[in-house]
Amino acid sequence: MFQSGLLLALAASALALGPLRVHELRKSLPSGFVAKGPAAPEEVLQLRFALQNSDIQGLEAALMDAATPGSPNFRQWLSKEQVEAFSRPSDETLRVVNAWLAEEGITSKPLTPAGDWIAVSIPVSQANRMFNTQFTTFTHEPSGTQFVRTMAYSLPVDIAPHVQLVHPTVSFARVGRNEPVMSFPTGGAPAGAPTSEFGSLATVPASCNTTITPACLQALYSIPARLSSPTSPSGIAVAGFSNQFASNTDLTTFLARLRPDMPSNQPFTLLSVDGGQNTQNRPGIEADLDMQYAIGVSGGLPTTFVSVGTRTQDGADSGFLDILNAMLALSKPPQSFTTSYGFNTEADLSVSLTTAMCNTYMQLTARGVSIMFASGDGGVAAAPGERCTTFLPSWPTCPFVTMVGATQNVNPERGADLSAGGFSNIFAAPSYQTSAVAGYLSRLGNQFAGKFNRTGRAFPDVAAQGLRVEIVQGGSFGTVGGTSCSSPIFSGIIGLLNAELIAAGKPVLGFLNPWMYANPGMFNDITTGSNPGCNTTGFPALAGWDPVTGLGTPNYVAMRTAAGL
Ligand SMILES: *[C@@H]1O[C@H](CO)[C@@H](O)[C@H](O)[C@H]1NC(C)=O
Ligand SMILES: *[C@@H]1O[C@H](CO)[C@@H](O)[C@H](O)[C@H]1NC(C)=O
Ligand SMILES: *[C@@H]1O[C@H](CO)[C@@H](O)[C@H](O)[C@H]1NC(C)=O
Repeated sequence: MFQSGLLLALAASALALGPLRVHELRKSLPSGFVAKGPAAPEEVLQLRFALQNSDIQGLEAALMDAATPGSPNFRQWLSKEQVEAFSRPSDETLRVVNAWLAEEGITSKPLTPAGDWIAVSIPVSQANRMFNTQFTTFTHEPSGTQFVRTMAYSLPVDIAPHVQLVHPTVSFARVGRNEPVMSFPTGGAPAGAPTSEFGSLATVPASCNTTITPACLQALYSIPARLSSPTSPSGIAVAGFSNQFASNTDLTTFLARLRPDMPSNQPFTLLSVDGGQNTQNRPGIEADLDMQYAIGVSGGLPTTFVSVGTRTQDGADSGFLDILNAMLALSKPPQSFTTSYGFNTEADLSVSLTTAMCNTYMQLTARGVSIMFASGDGGVAAAPGERCTTFLPSWPTCPFVTMVGATQNVNPERGADLSAGGFSNIFAAPSYQTSAVAGYLSRLGNQFAGKFNRTGRAFPDVAAQGLRVEIVQGGSFGTVGGTSCSSPIFSGIIGLLNAELIAAGKPVLGFLNPWMYANPGMFNDITTGSNPGCNTTGFPALAGWDPVTGLGTPNYVAMRTAAGL
């Protein structure tokens, strides 16, 4: 009796799919993409489903409780098991979705420890029928890259409440790194390390106005040269994409000349995602820059180069998901995580995809990982050369990451022209920044009215030097520029603060933003410069938070005090 009842229940749920209804829809193609015709029916699509999390609001509440200064649970970051309990799909969701897939003869594979993202492989013909759509081949003309995507897809009405999205479908991401502006070679570089325990503004060498080195940053931001315990469990993870590899030899050459006070042969760990490599014969400017500054600023804290390969078949945007999945799967992920790559514009991605990705960043930062991203290099146009009549926010504008903009010069330090910043059209301003942003908007008045969304999540959150930054690539010294420099510099500082906190028996900084907006005095407020783009002069940097330099650049000594050290 019991057994037949169970079978009956399964059969009933398998049949109760209901009619198909549009789940996601794109109204127009992003610029540069052209439809080439229907995808071949036998082509196999690697699709992934984001299933509904059982309690994402509960996770957000627990995260904000841990991240908000003054809370009794301040900095009590969640365990892997706690995050997964909030994130896993409900039993009902798993039952309904699995019954549907089983009826279609599809087996799925979990991509995350919580099982909220699953992967399936199905031919275009079956996908067209299941989702009542026509998968189409599109070409991104400027790069010549081909993608299979669709303008809309449907789900059975009884399945839809359990599925956030199917990917890749209506998102047309052009993943790019924030291409550092290169200039090789330079003449003689200023060498040396600071003389005092903490650098100080009074000792900033004049050469720093034209060439930024670790010694310049130590002086400018009062960064200590090195902590007493170089074997700290505080770790830094540096994301690598686009077959850009980090050279051990270049790192050694860089440290020998620009950090003569520390051992120059610093080993680092490789974490491979999607078949990512780190072959030593192809050092990349971006990878070399990111590793040299994460390690050079942090004085050699344990650093992991996370190399994301292209074994995803569904376009580079899936590498952005896979690196998160890999970090979530670690029992002890590095607590300072920097990425100098991003998507050109938020609008290329669907609202469902940005929301699901943002929830995944929330899962990672809830475990005590500070997530930093370069804000982009196109000023208010997000990426260099974008045509625009309204300002274009870059991605990720997710409120659970820290966006790092760029400054230039040291006397005075001002907002860099290229520093991307503005306001999201998808995410509302989170409570931690509403008063800082309202202050800016009232100072700005009606300038650029209609060109940006006054209610959106505003970025960047902070800034650091991003122009004429000295690196070694392929054995040569040269200078590079871009917010690509700023994010690893800031992550090195967070790594150092975490090392001091761990040594003092205190929890790490974790999700930074609520703490930083509550302590604006720990930043050097940058009040000059602007970020031109879209045929405008861009936002001006003003006193207080602004969309060029955020809260400002770090003052390590003040951050240390605010961290309770
Ligand atoms: C630093 O460089 C900027 C831009 O080139 C220049 O305007 C400023 O005068 C320089 N400052 C000093 C002290 O040389
Ligand atoms: C600036 O305006 C000109 C003339 O209207 C236009 O051709 C050009 O594309 C615009 N540039 C950007 C970056 O929007
Ligand atoms: C402006 O941002 C809000 C989120 O704060 C969003 O809901 C709204 O759709 C955006 N408006 C436009 C025109 O994009």
